Amino acid sequence: MRNKTIKKIIFFASGSGSNVQNIIQHFSTFDQITTDLVLTNNQKAGVLDRAKSLNVPFYLFKKEEYLDDSLLNKLQTIKPDLIVLAGFLLKIPKSIVAAYPDKIINIHPALLPKHAGKGMYGDRVHQSVLDSGDSKTGITIHYVNENYDEGSIIFQSAVEVSKADTVESIANKVHQLEYKHYPEVLHQLLKDQ
Ligand code: GRF
Repeated sequence: MRNKTIKKIIFFASGSGSNVQNIIQHFSTFDQITTDLVLTNNQKAGVLDRAKSLNVPFYLFKKEEYLDDSLLNKLQTIKPDLIVLAGFLLKIPKSIVAAYPDKIINIHPALLPKHAGKGMYGDRVHQSVLDSGDSKTGITIHYVNENYDEGSIIFQSAVEVSKADTVESIANKVHQLEYKHYPEVLHQLLKDQ
């Protein structure tokens, strides 16, 4: 029988999954926290290969399952303590948001509320930062509600944008912040539950 103090994390990701990998590796040394499942909507997502090589179960779901609550039923059998989004491009259905208040967390690769909303993901975010002439960008870790990038903010960290920066160099700086802070913030949230 499972120890009741064990906390379970599951992930939603649509892309490369370097954050998912970093978080799984962070928690691999903590017996009381398990990383139980990686969910994706994208059969070409790099996160699938990462989950395989890290020996974490994964599930490629179809959009219908997502919308008709069968995925919610699957989540309810797992009973996750945190649902972590990392580069996940679909909006979370209302039924899943309602079932997991304060347990669904996202990371946005900019300082919300700037550079946010539908279609604002990946390099588009960094291009928007460059186009706006902002002197800094960063990361925002926030709760997920029914609207893109609007849940309450848990943590932000900033980095300078210089004249020499490109989309690629900004993406790189932002990823470094993500790798440093996302596992720590998730860890603290689990401790506070
Ligand atoms: C990250 O920058 C994350 O903030 C954003 O999408 C990117 C995903 O990168 N939402 P990866 O798939 O974790 O490498």
